[in-house]
Amino acid sequence: MKKQLLCAIALLMSAHLVAQEEFKIICGPYLQNMQEDEVTVMWITNRDAVGWVEIAPDDSVHFYAETRPAFYQSINGRKTIGRLHRVRVSGLEAGTSYRYRVISREVTRNEDYFVQYGQAVGSDVFLHAPYRFTTFESDPSSVRCTIVNDIHGKNDLQKALLSRVPDSATDFVFFNGDMANHLSSEQQIVDDFLKTASETFAAETPFFFSRGNHETRGRLAYEFLNYFPTPSGRPYYTFQNGPAYFIVLDGGEDKPDNDIEYHGLGDYDRYRDEEARWLQEIVQSEAFRQAAFRIVLMHVTPVNDSWHGALETRQKFVPILNGHGIDLMLCGHTHQAYYAPAGENGCDFPLLINAPDQAVDLDISDRQLTLTVRDSQHRTIKTLNFPTKK
Ligand SMILES: [Fe+2]
Repeated sequence: MKKQLLCAIALLMSAHLVAQEEFKIICGPYLQNMQEDEVTVMWITNRDAVGWVEIAPDDSVHFYAETRPAFYQSINGRKTIGRLHRVRVSGLEAGTSYRYRVISREVTRNEDYFVQYGQAVGSDVFLHAPYRFTTFESDPSSVRCTIVNDIHGKNDLQKALLSRVPDSATDFVFFNGDMANHLSSEQQIVDDFLKTASETFAAETPFFFSRGNHETRGRLAYEFLNYFPTPSGRPYYTFQNGPAYFIVLDGGEDKPDNDIEYHGLGDYDRYRDEEARWLQEIVQSEAFRQAAFRIVLMHVTPVNDSWHGALETRQKFVPILNGHGIDLMLCGHTHQAYYAPAGENGCDFPLLINAPDQAVDLDISDRQLTLTVRDSQHRTIKTLNFPTKK
């Protein structure tokens, strides 16, 4: 009886402690889905709140000099209440730098005809400089991006590979899959890679994500696009920055759909069929055909791997890409560095598989694509140059 009483007291005390925890941002901000005229700003609070982003020109006028335009997350005109904040900032100028801050006001009661607010928290623009971002170029210009893959929750490795991003004029980072071993909870995503990404670079440099087979696993896998929205609303999509057109493909899982590991939930063969039909339309599009460089990113590799997922991407995607002037394909998944020039393995384009402990930099102008592979000390391992085919 005494033990039960002590347990009850302990529970009450822990409940009190939880109630007393300060309202705060637990992860972010991190930038997603950068385009010429918009960006999505994301962050997570520990309790429900209304969130907004304030935008200012990147000039010498203090952020507090005037009321700044505010952008909210809303659904059909009604601002949303939640912990995951996903604010689309639109109407921006191409190739232009902006300052911003994020703010969340806690919602302590949310009833049909009554809403009560609590504390507000936000990024500091008083003691620290506001965050900054630069929208993508609309005209052919130089573009720089950095690609990593297969980090599998190793925050130290992610940090080592990407710590140079803020000082390197990188336009965006690309996560080419398997940043985590699986997606089981929000806290696990935050702990495995998202908090490190936000603190290292992603508050000011956006990242794009190619879903790896490990991100298809776990109870939170269905929420992937809520945390990492894409221009198409699907895990496969395209985007353009200056002279480069990027196709992001999703190879799905790596074993046959009926493998025991998927517990009867695998339906990737049909998914890849649907994706292949979408890809056929993309390679016919004007934007793709007009680009100076056409780059494909996919976690699973169609070569150097004989598992079912890899074979499917080889059979379903490669024949569509061949003959359409692909300049480069970048993959991961095998954890082994590999490079094949155009014409090998049935691919009429060069293909590089990046190792987990290396990062790939792409420097792209309207005339040349330079690929540099660097190790975690940022030393150059390999450099390749590709002239435009146009
Ligand atoms: Fe993988």
